[in-house]
Amino acid sequence: MTRTISVTGLALVIVACNNQQAEANKGAAVAAVATAATVAPATTVATAPKPAVKEISERVLRRFTPVRARIEGEQQPAMEERVALGRMLFHETRLSMSQAISCNSCHRLDNYGVDNEATSPGHDGQRGKRNSPTVYHAAGFADQFWDGRAEDVEQQALGPILAGVEMAAPSPKYVVNVLKSMPPYVQAFQRAFPGEKEPLKFANVGVAIGAFERGLVTPSRWDDYLRGNKEALTAEEVDGLSVFAEVGCADCHTGEFLGGSMHKKAGVVQPWPNQEDPGRAGVTKNDSDRMMFKVPTLRNITKTGPYFHDGSVKTLDEAVNMMGKHQLGIDLSQEEVASIVTWLGSLTGQIPTDYIKKPDLPESTVGTPRPDRSVASNRP
Ligand code: HEC
Ligand code: HEC
Repeated sequence: MTRTISVTGLALVIVACNNQQAEANKGAAVAAVATAATVAPATTVATAPKPAVKEISERVLRRFTPVRARIEGEQQPAMEERVALGRMLFHETRLSMSQAISCNSCHRLDNYGVDNEATSPGHDGQRGKRNSPTVYHAAGFADQFWDGRAEDVEQQALGPILAGVEMAAPSPKYVVNVLKSMPPYVQAFQRAFPGEKEPLKFANVGVAIGAFERGLVTPSRWDDYLRGNKEALTAEEVDGLSVFAEVGCADCHTGEFLGGSMHKKAGVVQPWPNQEDPGRAGVTKNDSDRMMFKVPTLRNITKTGPYFHDGSVKTLDEAVNMMGKHQLGIDLSQEEVASIVTWLGSLTGQIPTDYIKKPDLPESTVGTPRPDRSVASNRP
């Protein structure tokens, strides 16, 4: 507030000086004052954020770490070639039966890795039961899917290609044949998996896509803040962080991704409204895992709605409100919700525009299967 006043004050002083120089022209001075008044707040917005007034304890800050530039797995040869191939495969619609769906259809890389649908239309317009989570930072999660049924991104990537409601390729062999029909893919696999007897095999499709996904990170002001630049967040955002930590959100949303590191019950204190999806119990067949879901990342959370495993909640305010009620047993005030949401905005990072750019894909040949046109196209 003080800053606004002083900036406006300065503008008025300048106007006053101008006024003295152009003594006679009162009309112009009035116009100038009006301009100064409208311009002043914009100037305030354009200046660096106010230094944070509130001190956050080291104990709180130690729960979080800045995001890495790349989430490395095992060190492997020909990493650059694998990433380049993975980028092609991520955008490759010909891996799907309709030849209309790629990973990027549901995990839009230029849109924070999501499609903003409650559930995503896949093969023949079918929708699964779960919301598509973002692929940004997924490589760093303890495991993959809402129920943790895949270990890592390399293994995960093979699932959707064959899933009937997603890309619906009939078999691994079909996928390999599609790729083998295009000589540039054969060469790209040879470059990415040098020395392997059979570079173009289904498992390597996953390895290449995973190598690409390991570079999907979006550093934000939050990371600057954690690295010690206390002015990277506004005072209001720091307030929101302190509410988040004080009420207990960070017990689950913690670490480098503020999520992704554990599974927790949806409805720890108060039963979750939608009890249809058994969550992790569907994988472990263990009743104590009912309604257990992976704690999702909060990075880019203002951009990745609708929220929760079923995509049932449209606004972030409502999602935060429900977390207070069902996970912590507290009724957060409107101000507390707004404050947390303000801080969550600082977790919105920068999309790596060059890294995600859709590469040129090889042309189909006579040997490439034709698309199955008997199905409805995925997107209007
Ligand atoms: C039709 C939409 C659709 C397509 C196409 C699709 N996905 Fe997904 N993806 C989903 C949904 C829905 C989930 C969550 C499913 C679950 O948890 O059971 C998911 C989960 C994931 C996850 C796990 C993220 C996490 O937080 O655990 C990753 C990684 C991922 N997909 C990558 C891919 C890749 C790579 C491809 C292409 C080979 C792909 N997806 C194709 C909808 C899609
Ligand atoms: C006991 C662990 C736990 C606590 C505490 C907790 N959460 Fe969650 N959070 C989860 C789980 C599990 C989910 C996924 C639930 C689902 O999808 O059904 C989730 C989901 C979310 C989502 C939706 C993310 C998405 O991509 O759909 C937001 C936002 C969120 N939490 C914010 C918060 C905030 C803010 C607090 C504190 C008020 C909080 N959480 C406290 C475990 C927790």
